[in-house]
Amino acid sequence: MSQKITAAITAVGAYLPEYILTNAELETMVETNDEWIKSRTGVEERRILKGEGKGVSDMGAPAVLELCKKRGIDPSEIDVIICCTVTADMLFPASANIIANKIGAVNCFGFDLGAACSGFLFGVTTGAAFIESGRYKKVVVVGTDKMSAITDYSDRTTCVLFGDAAAAILLEPNFEGYGVLDSLLKTDGSGEPYLHMKAGGSRKPASVETVMAKEHYIYQEGPQVFKFAVKGMADISYELLQRNKLTGDDIAWLVPHQANKRIIDATANRMGLSIDKVMLNIQRYGNTTSATIPLCLWEWENKLKKGDNIVLAAFGGGFTWGATLVKWAYDSK
Ligand code: UT7
Repeated sequence: MSQKITAAITAVGAYLPEYILTNAELETMVETNDEWIKSRTGVEERRILKGEGKGVSDMGAPAVLELCKKRGIDPSEIDVIICCTVTADMLFPASANIIANKIGAVNCFGFDLGAACSGFLFGVTTGAAFIESGRYKKVVVVGTDKMSAITDYSDRTTCVLFGDAAAAILLEPNFEGYGVLDSLLKTDGSGEPYLHMKAGGSRKPASVETVMAKEHYIYQEGPQVFKFAVKGMADISYELLQRNKLTGDDIAWLVPHQANKRIIDATANRMGLSIDKVMLNIQRYGNTTSATIPLCLWEWENKLKKGDNIVLAAFGGGFTWGATLVKWAYDSK
């Protein structure tokens, strides 16, 4: 009888741009203050990718290379690269292709996956299915977003929230039940009016008028999104626990998307988790969209133990949201 294949996370890599944009610097750019930003969002500083002609592939490529080095593999061994992003280098070709070319992943195929802040969860679930099929042995899921490229730094309601970063995981077959065990993913297109970018797509291609009207930036109705996010992320995480007959006591870590500390607190609460079991780095990086969850895994890698049950949870534009249960597959060296 053939053994059941699960998709284990076997390595994590990341890339953080050097430039740190602090709340103090934002105070010089828009009418805001450190106290408001910290208390309403939890963010203290964020990274910004500076430099002419730099895009998400310039962060994604080093993140994947770090992962390969840690795992001791050559990029040519990678079968698939799923690049989760809403700020691709170009509308086409896919940034996954560009990353593959930059790192010498000459034997893979790749594609971009756009599910906004839930991108990484959708990517992990898709990547896991490739592994579970038995057809592919090394699948990279990289979350990389240059949110500064679509942020209006004269709009105080959005510019304090976002940052740039990339982080990646490697998925490989496991025969002992470690890895991605379950996922609950949702989309609801009726969320479109509350969070989107108005122009630059096929509905409204870029023109002088769209640029003048600042339509190439994030448009967000914050309080509306907040309302859906608190409920969406908390409910789905709870549902995932129920479906797997688990309680908060069985969970070692919650790995939440880092959009707002208040949304994270509500999710932990609903799952019956104390805050010391929650990975939280929003204060240092802000909302890096597809990168938040793998960036947490990267930062907490040394604390994770083989067999830990962890729940990844996200809510974002679309609306999209979800929760994924992972049994961690290795102890850090
Ligand atoms: O990751 C993708 C999904 N996105 C999210 O999950 C984001 C969800 N939304 C949020 O996290 C919150 O709605 C925000 C952090 C975006 C905003 O917080 P809020 O508590 O909902 O604030 P608000 O928009 O209701 O604004 C409250 C007040 C307003 O002033 P008035 O009308 O009460 O006088 C705003 O103009 O705060 C004002 N305000 C600011 N003040 C200082 C808004 N932005 C700022 C700012 N600094 N940066």
